[in-house]
Amino acid sequence: MAESTKSAKLTIDGNEYDLPIYSPTAGPDVIDIQKLYGQAGVFTYDPGFTSTASCDSTITFIDGGKGELLHRGYPIDQLAGQSHYLEVCYLMLYGELPSAKQLETFESTITNHTMLHEQMVNFFRGFRRDAHPMATMVGVVGAMSAFYHDSTDISDPKQREIASHRLIAKMPTIAAWAYKYSIGQPFVYPRNDLDYASNFIHMCFAVPAENYEVNPIFSRAMDRIFTLHADHEQNASTSTVRLASSSGANPFACIAAGIACLWGPAHGGANQACLEMLKEIGTPDRIPEYIARAKDKNDPFRLMGFGHRVYKNFDPRATVMKQSADEVLELLGVEDNPILATAKELEVAALADPYFAEKKLFPNVDFYSGIILEAMGFPTSMFTPIFAVARTVGWISQWAEQLSDPKHKIGRPRQLYLGETERDYVDIENR
Ligand code: SDX
Repeated sequence: MAESTKSAKLTIDGNEYDLPIYSPTAGPDVIDIQKLYGQAGVFTYDPGFTSTASCDSTITFIDGGKGELLHRGYPIDQLAGQSHYLEVCYLMLYGELPSAKQLETFESTITNHTMLHEQMVNFFRGFRRDAHPMATMVGVVGAMSAFYHDSTDISDPKQREIASHRLIAKMPTIAAWAYKYSIGQPFVYPRNDLDYASNFIHMCFAVPAENYEVNPIFSRAMDRIFTLHADHEQNASTSTVRLASSSGANPFACIAAGIACLWGPAHGGANQACLEMLKEIGTPDRIPEYIARAKDKNDPFRLMGFGHRVYKNFDPRATVMKQSADEVLELLGVEDNPILATAKELEVAALADPYFAEKKLFPNVDFYSGIILEAMGFPTSMFTPIFAVARTVGWISQWAEQLSDPKHKIGRPRQLYLGETERDYVDIENR
């Protein structure tokens, strides 16, 4: 824990309270209010946690003003350009980049955990074929609690590590099988001769009837998408995982909770919503109509893929994703993709509009990812499951960090109560 070198003074009804201030290695100072209720009998009020630090962490740092994202200190553009997803997973879990031997051992461990317990196949068969793959993933990941009993004891660091490896390794299999189930095709088993991203693509698009060669352009783009979505401080789904974990719930239940939260269109569901929005806009000449709707307070429509709680500058992930979209579409010979053209025109038009400039609404990670995924052949319903696959390492790293913190306790926010004060029950004949 950081040391307090200064304090904030709070005066309430003439009483003065000293609140310790801690200084981070990067980012804003924090005021420690843990003892405030006990000392002053008041709560703080911060719906949406716009000014609240829920924990201390050493994994990821965002500077929203600069548009900077660091994982264990390494900038996201360097990791996306020079590293690869499983190496970033190692970095997240263990805090340092691996040696060649450590990386080889880690990748072998993950590769050998990619298969699911065969009886879990039955869980998929319980869903309707037209179930959203996120519904299937929430159910199947939660059901892992019923199969992997030897990695649910959260007090055992070894079991915590095995659960982490299992979740990182099995999420691509679960997501791919959720997709295969939705299109009525047989499950394709993971292969140990393929890298992580290629294995996922193979499980999604291979069929037993013929050989399927994974396009290396797709593998590189998919690995980069995984890396760009790996972790992002205390976002809504990560905070959900931490809160679930604070009660002592097992890792599979906690990750299932994170998947459920990520599904929302304001969060991880935005990539699906963004591509559907771009398709609805259709052609660049309809952009002004949609920008006007996004600005209209009486219209609930928002530009999906725009804006962010923390970034008040470009989301650095969007910048890398845009480059990737250009590369993939050019290599596929579809650089004249009308959706990409509309997306680029929409970005220019929105950023030129005072409303978006004043509110500092820039494209976020979800603005371009869907274009790449659609070009690779994924239906929009698979966009958020792919986000969930990538974010699993962030969720489980933050989960492990919380459990290894001796100070951690059950999360239990208070409230500003505006309801009825005490009143007597009225019998029905007197109502
Ligand atoms: C992710 O937290 C994370 O780190 C998330 C994430 C991660 O990696 O985990 O980065 C992933 O979730 C990215 C965000 C994906 N969501 C979307 O693209 C959906 C569209 N964006 C908005 O819903 C919104 O921008 C949020 C939810 C992302 C952020 O909302 P905030 O921080 O609560 O901001 P707000 O809703 O208070 O908006 C501030 C103002 C409002 O106008 P006023 O009330 O001040 O007049 O900006 C407006 C909003 O109406 N606004 C938008 C807008 N986003 C905000 N107006 C039009 N279009 C938008 N997209």
